[in-house]
Amino acid sequence: MSQRLSEAHAPMESANAAAWDQPQGIEGGGNAPAATTVWQALAQGRRSTRRFLDKPIPDGWLEEMLVEARCAPSGANLQPGELFLVEGAARERMSSRLVQVYRDGALAKEDYGYFPQPMPMTLRRRQVAAAQALYGALGAARDDQDARRVQFERNFRFFDAPVALVVTIDSRMGSGCFMDLGMCLYGLMLAALARGLGSCAIGALASYPHVVREVLDLEAGVSVVCGLAMGYADPLAPENCIRTARRDVSEYFKIAR
Ligand SMILES: Cc1cc2nc3c(=O)[nH]c(=O)nc-3n(C[C@H](O)[C@H](O)[C@H](O)COP(=O)(O)O)c2cc1C
Repeated sequence: MSQRLSEAHAPMESANAAAWDQPQGIEGGGNAPAATTVWQALAQGRRSTRRFLDKPIPDGWLEEMLVEARCAPSGANLQPGELFLVEGAARERMSSRLVQVYRDGALAKEDYGYFPQPMPMTLRRRQVAAAQALYGALGAARDDQDARRVQFERNFRFFDAPVALVVTIDSRMGSGCFMDLGMCLYGLMLAALARGLGSCAIGALASYPHVVREVLDLEAGVSVVCGLAMGYADPLAPENCIRTARRDVSEYFKIAR
């Protein structure tokens, strides 16, 4: 197991306490460096978690995290998006139906387009690198379609995480509202990490919105955005040890004078 993973997913209780007990530091007062350290640990320690321990998260944590995530800014404070916690028979029904439609190979109309069509080559390279990092960690060769299918199906089972969330948005919302919702979801991921929990967004769920819509009994005017798996990361799982690359700042930051 990599040293980095144990650092990234270790509960950061002491660091947190420093930040929460001294909010004046976050406001820019005398303790700013403590808040900065906590923030850097969260931002740089987060990574997608795709295998979880069979250990529930403590009562009340999800509600706390949702409140914290909603502190995210949003245009005109619209706070778009809803989240569903999917449990028990509903979760089993959703997962097994999603796996089935995936295996059947049927294409469904998505509620929104996630990726550019066609994908420009520079972006395609990043996509391939991320996939190779995952499948490489799992020891799945490029042409091992069975191993890739098994891993892909795990998306539909929320990676067997103790917490399975479905994220939706009112279909009338514009693209800007997806930006708002994304900030809220990032807040949720960091709120989780601050408690020693891992998470992974699951865009794959939006490939079959009709299944999600049926199980959750969603109205026609509601779009399925993604899923989110959350729980204690399995520190020994190779797929949790992946470090994905990021663009150099010089590639996406320009100064106009
Ligand atoms: C909105 C969204 C949807 C995603 N959907 C999936 C998914 O369906 N399956 C998956 O394994 N990872 C999914 N991911 C995780 C990305 O692959 C991952 O964030 C990216 O490769 C960067 O890696 P990192 O999160 O470990 O930093 C998703 C991430 C986001 C933000």
